[in-house]
Amino acid sequence: MKKNFSIVGTIISGIFLIGIAQSAMAEGDAAKGEKLYQREGCQGCHGATLEGSAAYPNLITSSKTASIEEFTKAVVTEGKGPMAMFKANEKVKTGIADLYAYVVSKKTKK
Ligand code: HEC
Repeated sequence: MKKNFSIVGTIISGIFLIGIAQSAMAEGDAAKGEKLYQREGCQGCHGATLEGSAAYPNLITSSKTASIEEFTKAVVTEGKGPMAMFKANEKVKTGIADLYAYVVSKKTKK
């Protein structure tokens, strides 16, 4: 009986570790994202708290920041108006996962 338990335990912790590794890869680096957010001008429009203003959407509450897919679409692939400039911004394109991690980290602090 004891042996069975340890096999089950090994399998469960293995699955758990794979899960951690996968989420770490998908999440990007929030500290790098913060620098991009400041240097690439996001802060100028969406604000230091990401809450925007009358003219600019609030990134904390926006449905477009609910997933990395929606976020990438809004910023890179389908950006409208002033956001269209990021379609050709390599730093933003390659750092999109880091930017997203930064936005998510701000959301969870609320
Ligand atoms: C010049 C001002 C400006 C800058 C700079 C800017 N944004 Fe925006 N952003 C906007 C405006 C205006 C919209 C709404 C566009 C629309 O109607 O689709 C928007 C929309 C968004 C959205 C979708 C939110 C929603 O609810 O529509 C996201 C996400 C976003 N911006 C993230 C960013 C990030 C990340 C950066 C930096 C890489 C950035 N923005 C830089 C003005 C700006």
